[in-house]
Amino acid sequence: MILPGKTIGMLGGGQLGRMTAQAARSLGYNFVVFEPSPNCPASQVADQQITADYTDIDALLSLGKASDVISYEFENVSTDALDKLAEVVPLYPNTKALHICQNREREKAFLKENDFPHAPFEIVNDPESLSKALKTIGAPCVLKTASFGYDGKGQQKIDSLDADVNAIWKAFDGKRAVLEGWIEFDIEVSVMVSVGSNGESKIFPVSENIHTNHILDLSIVPARIDKEIRSRAESLACEVAQKLGIIGLLGVELFVLKNGEIVINELAPRPHNSGHYTLDGCATNQFEQFVRAICGLPLGSTELIEPIVMVNILGDSWENGDPNFAAILEHPKAKLHLYGKSGPQKGRKMGHFTVSGKTVEEAFEGARYLKNAL
Ligand SMILES: Nc1ncnc2c1ncn2[C@@H]1O[C@H](COP(=O)(O)OP(=O)(O)OP(=O)(O)O)[C@@H](O)[C@H]1O
Ligand SMILES: [Mg+2]
Repeated sequence: MILPGKTIGMLGGGQLGRMTAQAARSLGYNFVVFEPSPNCPASQVADQQITADYTDIDALLSLGKASDVISYEFENVSTDALDKLAEVVPLYPNTKALHICQNREREKAFLKENDFPHAPFEIVNDPESLSKALKTIGAPCVLKTASFGYDGKGQQKIDSLDADVNAIWKAFDGKRAVLEGWIEFDIEVSVMVSVGSNGESKIFPVSENIHTNHILDLSIVPARIDKEIRSRAESLACEVAQKLGIIGLLGVELFVLKNGEIVINELAPRPHNSGHYTLDGCATNQFEQFVRAICGLPLGSTELIEPIVMVNILGDSWENGDPNFAAILEHPKAKLHLYGKSGPQKGRKMGHFTVSGKTVEEAFEGARYLKNAL
C-alpha cells in the first residue's frame, strides 16, 4: 500500500489529471503533474508541476524521483520512455496495456486476437490500400488515424464505394490508419472498470452516451438498456480489463445494436469523460477509485446514489459571452464543475455539469432544461 502522505505522479495535466489531483489531495496525498503546457488544469490543484516535453527522459526520471507511484491521464506518451520510468517507480496501469490502447491498429489487433467483438477493420497506409480496404469493408465506413486521435479528430466518414480515395487520403493527411465498418448502433454505452492491486475489481454503473459532432455531449445513468445487455456489457469490460492486466481504471466504449449485439469501439486505460457523472452520482467517484487502485488501497463502493445525467460544457457556450452558470447553480439537483482552462475554443472541453433526479427521465429533463439555459 502506498499510504496517504506519499506522492502520486501523473503524466498529463488536463481535466482528468485535475480531478484526480483533487481526489488525491482530499485523501491526503501529494501530487506532482508532468505536462508540457504551463499552468495546466491539474497544476492549479497539484503540489508541483514538472513542465517538460513527454520525450524528455531526464524530466521523466525526475518525476520518478519525486513520486511513490505513477500513472497517466494522457495516452500519447512513448511506452519506451515509460518502461525506463517503471524500472524505478511503480507505474499503473502497465505500459503494455497503454501501448495497446494508445494506438488504434494495436487496439483493434488486440480485440481481434482475443475474440472480443469489434467493428470489421482493415489497416491502410496509402491510397491503394485504402481503395482495397474500401472494397473489403464496404460503405459506409470510417477512416481513423492509428494514433493521436480524440474527440473525432483524425476521422473521416466514407459514404460511398465510389468515393475519391486519392482526395480522401490527401485531405486526411494520415500516415497509418484503420478503415472501420460503420456500425448502425441503437445506443452507445460505456463501462468503467476499476481494478485494485490485489485483483479486486469493481464496475461503475453503465453509462449511456450521446455524442454530438463526434464529441461526448451527454451521459445518462443508468443507461436505458435491459438487464441482460447490461450484464453482458459489464462482463465484457471486465474480461478486457483482465486480459490487459489493468491495475487502475479502464474505460470501455461500446456500441449496442438493435438486435442486442455488443461491439467494442474503444478502450481507455484511465479515467474517462463518460465517468464524470460519478463525481456527483456514485458513492465513490472514478477519480478517487483511480487513486485507491494505483495506491493499493481497498476500492470504494461504486453504487449509484440516484439517476443522473452529465452534460459537457464546451467552449462553444462562450460564443455570446459568459454562459449562464447561475441557472445551474440555482438548480437544487445540479452541480457545476469547471476545469480552470482559459481561452474557451469551439469544441474544447471547459467543464461539465450534472443533474440528478428520482428517475432517469427527471434527471434528463433537468439536464435538457439547463443545457438550453446555459
Ligand atoms: N465504426 C463506427 N460506427 C458508427 N459510429 C462510429 C464509429 N466509429 C466512431 N463512431 C462515432 O464517433 C464517435 C467517436 O469515435 P471514436 O470513439 O472512435 O473517436 P475518438 O476520436 O477516439 O473519440 P474519443 O477518444 O473522444 O472517444 C463514437 O463515439 C461514435 O459515436
Ligand atoms: Mg471514443
